[in-house]
Amino acid sequence: IKRVTTHTIQELKNKGEKISALTAYDYSMARAVDAAGVEVILVGDSASNVMAGHETTLPITLDQMIYHASSVVRAVKRALVVVDLPFGSYQGNSAEALRSAIRIMKESGAHAIKLEGGQEIRESIVRILSAGVPVMGHLGLTPQSIYKFGTYAVRAREEAEAAKLMTDAQMLEEIGCFGVVLEKIPAALTKQVSQALQIPTIGIGAGPDADGQILVVHDMLGINNEFKPRFLRQYADLHSVMKQAITNYVDDVKSRDFPNEKEAY
Ligand code: KIV
Ligand code: NA
Repeated sequence: IKRVTTHTIQELKNKGEKISALTAYDYSMARAVDAAGVEVILVGDSASNVMAGHETTLPITLDQMIYHASSVVRAVKRALVVVDLPFGSYQGNSAEALRSAIRIMKESGAHAIKLEGGQEIRESIVRILSAGVPVMGHLGLTPQSIYKFGTYAVRAREEAEAAKLMTDAQMLEEIGCFGVVLEKIPAALTKQVSQALQIPTIGIGAGPDADGQILVVHDMLGINNEFKPRFLRQYADLHSVMKQAITNYVDDVKSRDFPNEKEAY
């Protein structure tokens, strides 16, 4: 199998083919996501929510991200594996940002990292890129800043914030990022940014004109059924499937149906 690289996804944008991306945080899920042909697997800090049950992405640690990332890397044969730098591991100190990025690359075997923000974290991104680590940007709704925003509502509806987002996106391209996630912004702005940039944009809640789409795999499979924003298309109801299967198991144990003769030695 030919591996997906940052160059592969640039070629997809160049020829007008959309890029598919999903999150994964563990070995078994990553096997399914990779086998289905998704080009980019993000080990997102959304693991803080869907794996650990935290309300925000802020509590997850660098060590925990490395644990998730190394599990995913062991499963993946084809996809490009991108890992989020967690809150507190890069903001405001480019030396620490580089150290965090290097730990992820060395200890997990991932292929690239992602950071949230624009101008504020420019130095950190430049420093990581100079070490040869591919970087993906993330603009719009950036959940690590939720306590600054105060809400998970759509971002960049106002002219000034939209203009800053465009400037930040162009800056990210200029310094050498290989792509940028656009989260929860108006579809029209996504279209403008995607046309202005050479590098691919990957949208979530950002409309049809991003160069690719990403969803949190637990949300799109309905494993997590507590989160149903308008942008989410739910492809399965696995929470119900799992609950029913487990209920059947409990019944079989109680009724002594399980294990039967063939299931015993
Ligand atoms: O952590 C995450 O899952 C993400 C995606 C939603 C882009 O950052
Ligand atoms: Na994230």
